[in-house]
Amino acid sequence: MTTTARTAASDIKDLALAPEGRRRTEWAERSMPVLRLIRERFTRERPLQARRLSACLHVTTETANLAVTLQAGGADVVLCASNPLSTQDDVAAHLVKDHGIKVFAIKGEDHTTYYEHIRAALAHRPDVTMDDGADLVGALHMIALNRLDDLAPPVRRWIETLSGADRQALVAGVIGSTEETTTGVIRLKAMARDGVLQFPVIAVNDSDTKHLFDNRYGTGQSTLDGILRATNLLVAGSTVVVAGYGWCGRGFALRARGAGANVIVTEIDPLKALEAQMDGYRVAPMAEAARLGDVFVTLTGNTHVIRVEHMRAMKDGAVLANSGHFNVEIDLDGLKQAAQGPTRVREFVNEWRLGGKRLFVLADGRLINLAAAEGHPASVMDMSFANQALAAEHVVRHAKQLGKDVHRIPRELDAEIARLKLAAMGVAIDTLTPEQQKYLTSWEMGT
Ligand SMILES: NC(=O)c1ccc[n+]([C@@H]2O[C@H](COP(=O)([O-])OP(=O)(O)OC[C@H]3O[C@@H](n4cnc5c(N)ncnc54)[C@H](O)[C@@H]3O)[C@@H](O)[C@H]2O)c1
Repeated sequence: MTTTARTAASDIKDLALAPEGRRRTEWAERSMPVLRLIRERFTRERPLQARRLSACLHVTTETANLAVTLQAGGADVVLCASNPLSTQDDVAAHLVKDHGIKVFAIKGEDHTTYYEHIRAALAHRPDVTMDDGADLVGALHMIALNRLDDLAPPVRRWIETLSGADRQALVAGVIGSTEETTTGVIRLKAMARDGVLQFPVIAVNDSDTKHLFDNRYGTGQSTLDGILRATNLLVAGSTVVVAGYGWCGRGFALRARGAGANVIVTEIDPLKALEAQMDGYRVAPMAEAARLGDVFVTLTGNTHVIRVEHMRAMKDGAVLANSGHFNVEIDLDGLKQAAQGPTRVREFVNEWRLGGKRLFVLADGRLINLAAAEGHPASVMDMSFANQALAAEHVVRHAKQLGKDVHRIPRELDAEIARLKLAAMGVAIDTLTPEQQKYLTSWEMGT
């Protein structure tokens, strides 16, 4: 039997889980050599000294290694969950118990508790925020724009206790922010476009060493892992419909095909659809794919990609999962109205009855790889979180020069992360000879 360990400083499931969290975090650390090098330098140089940093991230073993790195750099770190289902409770306990990091995250927390935890991260009065999906920055902007009705009730009630000056000081105190994922970057770029962005943000997702690896290989592997852990289905010979052929979608399509599935891709972008077609997948609209699929996975960052009209066309026993950031890609409200259920038939599997057919929705349409599995492997998060740590340092060092816009980390740092990762993997590459260097920068030589 576990108890909720709620103190002024933290709100986690059970402190007694800390030893398991420590063992698993140390296991992940073995695969995070680039972040380790950054931690060693941060320990020496303390670039985040006395900075208050609030991070809203999936609370996983890899995130624990990032949090400890930021702390080694001198930051006073508060961590809250960026998804109600992605927290690893043992990891939260480990961070609180062994590192004194304040954590607000409990796996399976309800909507109110989720936003109570966001409130706690804001009440830390951060100089720097770190988001995965822009929930912290989103709330800060609703406060800045005095759109209090758009805040979730736990945040709104707290803000209403603060004076106008105090609210503005909360926002003005943030010198900059970092954002992990595609969906968050889309929201932030919309804010910049509308001229409402209050501080500079580093789009970590825009780094090549992030999206080319984390989104593609990380999401590819861990999404399949999540579906298998939730269902134990045989992939070989099944038809898997992949909605979205961006970085995440192509990674997952590759792994599903590798496991023996017939993959159908749905897209709205002709270029991406053409790539999928020439990569050898069948491409079709969802209305057509709906009749054929055994398993449907959304990875688009868009809303209502699978709607009730599609669900009505699906086979009896079809499985639906989402690996995009928010739980809006499958129209669950529509399903709720049209179908009977749900019946929980297995952990993370809800059965719905629609027109005499059974449909199985995994993890309530939340990120399947983080809800039912452990998220991305540490080796790929090594690069994403190296970017996060360097982005936080970049914000602190250059906040005054960075405009109120969405920036990427300098390309030299991105390239350096790739170089360090290759070195850690024991992979050597060639360097340009002086002759080649000259050839590549000249225009005189032709046929
Ligand atoms: N599960 C994870 O751990 C994880 C990791 C990284 C990113 N993400 C999230 O996954 C989502 C996708 O990220 P990405 O980096 O692949 O983005 P991306 O922009 O590279 O790809 C999204 C693709 O979806 C397509 N699309 C949009 N609407 C569509 C529709 N209605 N039907 C079919 N296709 C549609 C777009 O054309 C695009 O090609 C985002 O929400 C992102 O935040 C999840």
